[in-house]
Amino acid sequence: MDVSDPNSAFHIRPATPRDMAGAYEVCLKTGDSGNDGTALYSDDPSALGNIYVGPYIMFEPELAYVLEDAAGICGYVLGALDSECFYRRVIQEWFPPLRTRHPAPVGDPASWTPTQQLYYEYHNPQFYYPDTFRPYPSHMHIDLLPRAQGRGLGRRMVEHLIAKLVKLGSPGVHLGLSAVNTRAYRFYQKMGFFDLPRSESTPAGVIFMARRLP
Ligand SMILES: CC(C)(COP(=O)(O)OP(=O)(O)OC[C@H]1O[C@@H](n2cnc3c(N)ncnc32)[C@H](O)[C@@H]1OP(=O)(O)O)[C@@H](O)C(=O)NCCC(=O)NCCS
Repeated sequence: MDVSDPNSAFHIRPATPRDMAGAYEVCLKTGDSGNDGTALYSDDPSALGNIYVGPYIMFEPELAYVLEDAAGICGYVLGALDSECFYRRVIQEWFPPLRTRHPAPVGDPASWTPTQQLYYEYHNPQFYYPDTFRPYPSHMHIDLLPRAQGRGLGRRMVEHLIAKLVKLGSPGVHLGLSAVNTRAYRFYQKMGFFDLPRSESTPAGVIFMARRLP
């Protein structure tokens, strides 16, 4: 399905494995709570995309869309229909080769670089999907480069993904965001997401939101 608007310089289309490098770049350039994370992950620019992009394009291609303009890939929206199945597959199939390439960091966690903290996650997956999220079993991520932001494209991409989730029968979708990313928080509120209740086990610094579907 191509939802390109012929009057727009930007096109939304299904992602393919050939888009991997471009989508990883978007992930890195928005990887510091919505801002450029290049400096944080300079020792391995793929470290973040290996968690937040790669497995979605490979395992959930029906729910992976990129935004493209003449200069290349400038955004994506990625979803997983059933978070439990998806996380199981990531743990069983996606992380093992990454573990071989990137040993778990040792020593004091306070001394680890941001990249090493991600390597730790490859070895000790941190996916948060408590029972209270089960009414919203799907989850999603969206990131746009600065040149694509503030033009209504985020709304279009979220609506596009949500229409697909509804078509696939999902009863609800959730997402997590950095608590300091107030811009994204307001955006998600505008898109009909509400805060999920917190508990003692909720990771610090992360806000979880959900939206019932359809
Ligand atoms: C957050 C992000 C996806 C929003 O996409 P966008 O294309 O910039 O947002 P849109 O232009 O589609 O805005 C959609 C609606 O949200 C509103 N909105 C967007 N940012 C807002 C803000 N900071 N405050 C209040 N409302 C906001 C817009 O006014 C618009 O409302 P309307 O449709 O009723 O007019 C995008 O800016 C982005 O990728 N940022 C960097 C990466 C990031 O933070 N990703 C989320 C990580 S969890």
